[in-house]
Amino acid sequence: MLKFILLGGLLSCLASCQLLRNDKMDLGVYNPETKHYEKPLLGADDHDRVPHTKPLLGADDHDRVPHTKPLLGGDNHDRVHHTKHHLGGDDHDRASHTKKMFGGGDHDRVPHTKKMLGGSGHDLGHMGAFKTFMKEHSKVYADHAEFKRRFNIFRQNMKKVYILQQNERGTAKYGATKFADLTELEFRRILGLRRDMKPEVSKMVSAEIPDIDLPVEFDWREKGVVTPVKNQGMCGSCWAFSVTGNVEGQWAIKHNKLISLSEQELVDCDTTDEGCNGGMPENAYEAIKELGGLETESDYPYEGRDDKCHFNKTMAQVTVNGSVELPQDETMLAKWLVKNGPVSIGINANALQFYVGGVSHPLKFLCNPKNLDHGMLIVGYGVHTTKYLHRKQPYWIVKNSWGSDWGEQGYYLVYRGDGTCGVNQMATSAVVP
Ligand SMILES: *[C@@H]1O[C@H](CO)[C@@H](O)[C@H](O)[C@H]1NC(C)=O
Ligand SMILES: *[C@@H]1O[C@H](CO)[C@@H](O)[C@H](O)[C@H]1NC(C)=O
Repeated sequence: MLKFILLGGLLSCLASCQLLRNDKMDLGVYNPETKHYEKPLLGADDHDRVPHTKPLLGADDHDRVPHTKPLLGGDNHDRVHHTKHHLGGDDHDRASHTKKMFGGGDHDRVPHTKKMLGGSGHDLGHMGAFKTFMKEHSKVYADHAEFKRRFNIFRQNMKKVYILQQNERGTAKYGATKFADLTELEFRRILGLRRDMKPEVSKMVSAEIPDIDLPVEFDWREKGVVTPVKNQGMCGSCWAFSVTGNVEGQWAIKHNKLISLSEQELVDCDTTDEGCNGGMPENAYEAIKELGGLETESDYPYEGRDDKCHFNKTMAQVTVNGSVELPQDETMLAKWLVKNGPVSIGINANALQFYVGGVSHPLKFLCNPKNLDHGMLIVGYGVHTTKYLHRKQPYWIVKNSWGSDWGEQGYYLVYRGDGTCGVNQMATSAVVP
């Protein structure tokens, strides 16, 4: 039920809804095999015996399913007050937890600054965690007011992290990335896919899908056709990076020469798109064709802001003849990729702000596949096998443009095969001569 109510909604909506405000609530860990939130609950106040007034606690009626065990160790540790430099009286925090909880990562080794009890994500969003985050990402704030403001944003964001983590069906970890002190509005500035700019009449043609057997894994990075991870900065130019990545690959495969290409040229000179205000790969392919090519990264370097066009056609190193649209079937997509090269895609960025690593497989209602707002580049695929249950997790290897200190060395691994976050919805490629 929750699913329907929130369909299309963003995490921010979730973060403000009643469910999360109640510190005693806990969704438990969603187990895709049983389709239940397993793990009982934290409420010390018998909350589960109190009738719920609104749709709450997940779409799968888990509250009507009997809860199994007490959880969190036999000593009720979450009901024990944390003292100072943490570790509740009975050393509960040193006892190993049987399952992932509270976001998985070493949280119990972070000192608790105040007395507190269990509840949704509390261990992620306290001052100690914020200071650790500041240190780790060398964050400096202008004054105390700004520090407080960022801390509040961070706390709100850690609730989103908690929701993503608790509902994660893959192996992904979400946490305090370098973007953890950004508001949603600020975060939107480092996206930039604008589907509203799609031309009414598309010039793209359908790609021909080769009839080949797919290898189990494939990675274009190993073939030397992918440039190092770049960084778009605080500019909504993802679409330009997605396109240069694709053209770099197409050119390298055809001409055996990997040339890093200019995003700034697209930001400045592609007038169909809107530079740091966003754009669409489909328009950018046409723009490159009409401009007469792309200069290199070093001849036309990236500035991360809108500037005047100073493209010089005689400097163009690469040209584009047109573009193709790829099918949404992910097996077909893989076949095209293996034969032809890295693929430009659009994706829903909801899981990206806090993505730390692993195979990301958010529930649909946390990552609407119709709501594409970020452009990236698929460079390969693989299969991860989970350690204990040996579950297979097929994934795409997706190059992002947020620096190599984000995600898996700059890459995103997203579940492959069920259209997670819309990864298959807008796959395209340039055609180069
Ligand atoms: C364009 O580049 C060529 C080759 O480097 C150079 O000779 C020419 O002066 C440049 N034109 C402009 C307008 O900068
Ligand atoms: C690509 O376009 C150029 C000029 O725009 C043309 O001369 C060339 O034949 C085209 N190549 C292909 C493979 O279509």
